[in-house]
Amino acid sequence: GNCDSMVAEILEVSKLGFGCAGLFGVYDNPVSEELAVSIIKYAFSKGITFLDTSDFYGPNAELLVGKVLKELPREKIQLATKFGLVRAEPTHMVVNGTPEYVRSCCEATLKHLDVGYIDLYYQHRIDTSIPIEETMGELKKLVEEGKIKYIGLCEASSDTIRRAHAVHPITAIEMEWSLWTREIEEEILPLCRELGIGIVPYSPLGRGFFGGKAAGENLPANSFLRSNPRFQGENFEKNKLLYAKIEMLAEKHRCTPAQLALAWLFHQGDYVVPIPGTTKIKNIDNNIGSLRLKFTQEELEEISAGVTPEEVAGARVADNLIRCSWRFANTPARE
Ligand code: ATR
Repeated sequence: GNCDSMVAEILEVSKLGFGCAGLFGVYDNPVSEELAVSIIKYAFSKGITFLDTSDFYGPNAELLVGKVLKELPREKIQLATKFGLVRAEPTHMVVNGTPEYVRSCCEATLKHLDVGYIDLYYQHRIDTSIPIEETMGELKKLVEEGKIKYIGLCEASSDTIRRAHAVHPITAIEMEWSLWTREIEEEILPLCRELGIGIVPYSPLGRGFFGGKAAGENLPANSFLRSNPRFQGENFEKNKLLYAKIEMLAEKHRCTPAQLALAWLFHQGDYVVPIPGTTKIKNIDNNIGSLRLKFTQEELEEISAGVTPEEVAGARVADNLIRCSWRFANTPARE
């Protein structure tokens, strides 16, 4: 279709992916099974073939994705899922990267999805208590056994990426990256460029911020955003002003703010494949519309300058999550 692109040199995916987390109730109640199925099928019908899920997105997430896959041609889908996040405690995340755990997750996931292989298997969060080589060693075996095709890491530090890549090529890094979350540009992005690793930006719409979630709409009571610093109190009020600026920029380019945010990512070079999530068919169409936008260098700079780090109020996630993000994701040296 019109969506062909690549993550790294080997895994070919659609230019736009689809993040499944939101279907299972991150920002609101989970959607009905019927709706989840129809949304994923609709995305596929429009050329979005790169699906991103995790064993962490609720007990039924992988079962449901598996069910959708039964109705689609498996070989035309690039299925990404993850292991390693065990559970979320109020103060910290429990992670596990031991070889035994890697294998048991992979086997459980293959069963839940009822597939013969996973295209891209990510470590969802780095286990800083064990050398990354040990986790990677097991992943490499899973590749050799044909259970997974490619390996990815989420929220990994540059040291961890380098060490992991030396054990087996890393195909993609999944990180939060959007107009208002730019930190990976300092160090992680150049490293991925150097090693030929693809970048899959999660929360490319700023968790809905660029879709208008800051524009008056009340956040649902059970929304995960209520614990997000950028959507709280004074920060939220400041960020609403920022959104007003983005709206103006979008108007100038005759697109929606969500399209502006996605198109900005598409202009960051090759091998960048954002995975916005939505619970609405119309937003899938809207997101696909971002592929048409072309900015000049000057326009791109104007958009970047429209959202300076100084203007963004609040950290991208709460402290307990920052503590298991890439800045704190070095692992011990191998014995
Ligand atoms: P994440 O990766 O964390 O899922 P994201 O993709 O940055 O986050 O943003 C997801 C949010 O953007 C969802 O809340 C989604 O809301 P709906 O389910 O109501 O669509 C919202 N979203 C996605 N695409 C959108 C669009 N084109 N316009 C407006 N909001 C959109």
